[in-house]
Amino acid sequence: MIDMRIFQRILVFSPAILLIVAAPGFSQPAQTKPARAEAHPLDAGMQAKIEALLARMTLEEKLGQLNQPSGSGRNELKEEHKALARKGLVGSFLNVVGAERTRQAQEMAVKESRLGIPMLFGLDVIHGFRTTFPIPLAAASTWDADAVKRAARIAAVEATAAGINWTFAPMVDIARDPRWGRIAEGAGEDPYLGAIMAAAQVRGFQGKDLSANEALLACAKHFAAYGGAEAGRDYNTVDVSERTLREIYLPPFKAAVEAGVGSLMSSFNEIGGVPSTASRWLMTDVLRQEWNSDGFVVSDWTAIAELQPHGVAASRAEAGMLALQAGVDMDMVSGIYLNDLAAMVREKKLSEETVNQAVRRVLLAKFKLGLFDNPYRHADPAREQAVFLQKQYVDFAREFAQKAVILLKNENNLLPLNKNVKTLAVLGPLADDKASPLGPWHCEGRPENVVTVLQGLRNKVSPQTKILYAKGCAIDSDSTAGFAEAKRLAQQADVVILVVGENEHMSGEAASRSTLDLPGVQEQFVRAIHETGKPIVMVLLNGRPLVLSWATEHVPAIVETWFLGIQHGNAVADVLFGDANPSGKLPVTFPRSVGQAPIYYNYKNTGRPVTEYKFTSKYLDVPNTPLYPFGYGLSYTTFAYSNLRLSADKIKMNDSLRVSAEVKNAGKVKGDEVVQLYIQDEVASVTRPVKELKAFRRITLNAGETKTVEFVLQPEQLAFYNLAMKRVVEPGMFKIFVGTNSAEVSEARFEVVE
Ligand code: NOJ
Repeated sequence: MIDMRIFQRILVFSPAILLIVAAPGFSQPAQTKPARAEAHPLDAGMQAKIEALLARMTLEEKLGQLNQPSGSGRNELKEEHKALARKGLVGSFLNVVGAERTRQAQEMAVKESRLGIPMLFGLDVIHGFRTTFPIPLAAASTWDADAVKRAARIAAVEATAAGINWTFAPMVDIARDPRWGRIAEGAGEDPYLGAIMAAAQVRGFQGKDLSANEALLACAKHFAAYGGAEAGRDYNTVDVSERTLREIYLPPFKAAVEAGVGSLMSSFNEIGGVPSTASRWLMTDVLRQEWNSDGFVVSDWTAIAELQPHGVAASRAEAGMLALQAGVDMDMVSGIYLNDLAAMVREKKLSEETVNQAVRRVLLAKFKLGLFDNPYRHADPAREQAVFLQKQYVDFAREFAQKAVILLKNENNLLPLNKNVKTLAVLGPLADDKASPLGPWHCEGRPENVVTVLQGLRNKVSPQTKILYAKGCAIDSDSTAGFAEAKRLAQQADVVILVVGENEHMSGEAASRSTLDLPGVQEQFVRAIHETGKPIVMVLLNGRPLVLSWATEHVPAIVETWFLGIQHGNAVADVLFGDANPSGKLPVTFPRSVGQAPIYYNYKNTGRPVTEYKFTSKYLDVPNTPLYPFGYGLSYTTFAYSNLRLSADKIKMNDSLRVSAEVKNAGKVKGDEVVQLYIQDEVASVTRPVKELKAFRRITLNAGETKTVEFVLQPEQLAFYNLAMKRVVEPGMFKIFVGTNSAEVSEARFEVVE
């Protein structure tokens, strides 16, 4: 049970995230604590305006502001929804899209309802609106916060032109279990990387001024610990300690709040017996009191009604009261706030002030977005036509996608391929699939705009190169009928590009899997092609880590491409032919077998860390180590690390420490490296992970070039939650690790003294 008293304690330090400052003289800009998004100029008068409006509202109109029905995209609204909007009983719609459609709907609320309060239009703009970018897991693989922010900005420009002023993104759930399909939607397993990506997206979506026409209100979801679903099964029970919650699951949310996120979404799951949607501790104590967020909270889809099957509410009204009293301000789709809560207020079971508080937060968002000045600012058909898929967006989509590609294996430098290669066999069910590269939640992204791997290769090679293509098998069937033809083509080729993996429906919501193998007969297919003895480059499309043990042993080159959006094929071809040097790094651990899940690099040592001795923490049939560790990714060049130096071998608890290392591009081509810094607190009053990522930096090095990378570790980065859940730095020995991934590091030690 969570002890409520401990949350009143004041934190000794501000959060672990975003506090690294680059030392003077270092080329990278300092990462300082972000300022909140600039307030709208109306800010001073906003509170008064909200109170004045609130005073004029009937109870029903107030509950209407908390009501969010779902529309039908660009299609006509249902009559019942029109009627509600005209009565001022819709605070926001989700899934009403398009400048025309949202303008029509907005007019109903603004011109026809009694108080004319404008509505919000929310949509899942997750990785692009019309220009589809890499899925979030792939975006995190770039370890490039600026690029991630830019993609979010472009998504905001396109979405706001189509009448959308609120996105249900970023999805910031930490995921340690690859069976969970929604791992595709987040930044992976690490709270620090997750926090950086969360803040970058919030800033990208919202921009500097929320009242600008191109500002999209962001929504950090799913609050909280949704990714901790038992057995990786979507919507399943979560039971985590407060420590793990605070150390692992909450940091990206806190970072989003610090970046000024305008809203959050409550998650479907329970945590230790309390569904998040009914958790006053999460929605009020942590979010509002501890973190000082003024954003409003929307429930997830029917999550308020789901408090009944969770077994904490006996009726719809009870479910609604629990959620509202917890601090969930808006009801997505259940219709409970609107239909069931007025009676509760009249019967004095629910205080009207609780309703008012939620309404204030929703109105505040509308004021900040400037909707009271111009409710149609996001509904401009001319802008809508003009902005979609602009050349600079598509070019950026390609560049961003290149950075997300992760080279997992490259035996004997099979890659990059020579542009004069005579015959390429491009095989596999995903080679020419136009839908899958869009990935889950692709919004208005369209297959017709997707460049497949086959097309990308065709665009790339010289006219002398012959490309042979066969599908070989389906993504998910048991037919091997196509194997023979594919083998025949492979036999004629100099190199085989084998494009296999998952389709876009196999990850994302309600897409958990109990195995992590290539679906259907694809692994058999890979083995069949391998029998030809031809050199194989395996190109993977997938939304989660897969088990690649056989391929890792037998296939010479393996390239992880996730779902890269509309420029998928061009970006992959750029990498395969060396026009782009791969620089992506895994934001998640790849297991050797599904039985290792959940698996993550920042595990605890246990009292019996693995040794040869039988009675230690391990499996009989598989090592504890992953197949590919967190932070891993190869390049066409090699980077040599040397001279790991610390500015002191002893520091005081309030001191910072400078850590530097030399990184040399020891190969023949220019490349980007993501230099990673981890720490371990060796002995503390509570157990600490074997490694924790605390900083990273992406650098570009010409062939032969050396750079000194310097990090400044602040006390906060050495701090953790002690037994009283207070953030402290404790004296004692620490390890510092700097390297190219979480497993290959150089190591140094220092001591913190009182
Ligand atoms: C349910 C999903 O869990 C959530 O992420 C999404 O934003 C809503 N549906 C709305 O589509």
